[in-house]
Amino acid sequence: AKLAPFVDSLPLPPVLQARQGKPLHVRMAESAQKLHRDLPPTTLWTYGGHCPGPTIEARSGEPVEVVWENALPSKHFLPVDHAICGAEADKPEVRAIVHLHGAKVPRKDDGFPEDWYVPGKSRRHRYPNAQDPATLWYHDHAMGINRLNMYAGLMGLYLLRDEYELSLGLPSGEQELPLVLADRLLREDGRLYYPDSGDAKAPWVPEVFGNVTLVNGAILPRADVQARRYRLRVLNAANGRFYHLRFRDGRAFQVISSDQGLLASPVSMTSLFLAPGERADVVVDFADLRGGQAELMNDALPLMRFAVGNGMVRDESRVPPVLRDVPRMTESSASSTRELTLDEYSDCIATPMLMLLNGKRWHDPVTEKVKLGSTETWSLVNLTEDTHPIHLHLVRFQILDRRPYDVDEYMAKRTLRYLGPAQQPPPHERGWKDVVQAYPGMVTRIVATFDGYVGRYAWHCHLAEHEANEMMRPFEVY
Ligand code: C2O
Ligand code: CU
Repeated sequence: AKLAPFVDSLPLPPVLQARQGKPLHVRMAESAQKLHRDLPPTTLWTYGGHCPGPTIEARSGEPVEVVWENALPSKHFLPVDHAICGAEADKPEVRAIVHLHGAKVPRKDDGFPEDWYVPGKSRRHRYPNAQDPATLWYHDHAMGINRLNMYAGLMGLYLLRDEYELSLGLPSGEQELPLVLADRLLREDGRLYYPDSGDAKAPWVPEVFGNVTLVNGAILPRADVQARRYRLRVLNAANGRFYHLRFRDGRAFQVISSDQGLLASPVSMTSLFLAPGERADVVVDFADLRGGQAELMNDALPLMRFAVGNGMVRDESRVPPVLRDVPRMTESSASSTRELTLDEYSDCIATPMLMLLNGKRWHDPVTEKVKLGSTETWSLVNLTEDTHPIHLHLVRFQILDRRPYDVDEYMAKRTLRYLGPAQQPPPHERGWKDVVQAYPGMVTRIVATFDGYVGRYAWHCHLAEHEANEMMRPFEVY
């Protein structure tokens, strides 16, 4: 049955104000949540009883602590694949570890995939917040099962602010709305469904696409807004779906930030392509729509509606033409370059498909060893036919360029023959990033300074199914 659109109002996750010296406590537990007026409550796994979990608000430069309590059931309700690395049958079935995506944190607080713990246990993480304001998010990262834990609902936003950004006059308060997008497969009765391969011994599937998209945990919600500007903090929290966002009426919006915070200046766009893990802050003006409505779409499919009130409002918010200084990093700032392939093996019958980073598995010896404070260029040579959103923990980076190359020649001889000039990233990708879309047929180059902390971190594809099945590698800062 088709669900009536725009009958539920857009849920807003509760806000937890983080204060120095007062640890927050967030409990992971099973809960039931109505995703639509006409569906019975859906069983989910949540942080703090909500999906998305509470939005944690913190200040740049003020460290906070969060105690993450695992109060989940001891049995998983989604199909665990014991053939997957880290989820072997001798491991507890339910494990969890929280990663604060985009945060620069010491190794022990990062949510390393192997740092999981079982129901009944808690873990205290200290987040220094010594970084620029940005839309960060937290989600599960437990080795071998985080695609299931995230799909079950374990995700939330973490907003970092500072005085400077607050002084810009951007839309704020009720005019700042989080939009957490995540698609899910739902059965007619509202139960969550996660597909499997049909092989009970190896249920892993390479990709999951839903039949509905949840916006802040609701199907086709409606936000009642005023005829003024809004700042939308958009997160693609889907396991595998890319969102091609636009408004039905084609209206332009201004992209003001990428994953790691403000761009140098706003970029006017009419559509935006967001990969899993990516964030964008967008300012949209509904001033011309009094009494009307605007629908946010994914291509031709509506995601939600903004119903604009009739009232006249004075909008004192603004979008300054200069947002902040984002010095462009160049190739020459890097002391070394690594060539790293994104690979896919699909010719083997026992394993239907396997995607790796540089031909290596998670447990192979660490190859990306980076000296603390050094700057490196990573050339991501995509040998597959898909775009993979590549994420590095610990660091922010910039995209240098993307360049088409001869894939067959590379496969045969391991030599790079370019088929065209290097393409600069478009303006909205010229800010600080922590996820990059590595296109097929292209070498995507990023540059990062590996500062902050030493230790072992992870880099991986943010398509959760790829990441779960070996498209994740450790790297080490020493
Ligand atoms: Cu958003 Cu390693 O994760
Ligand atoms: Cu991938």
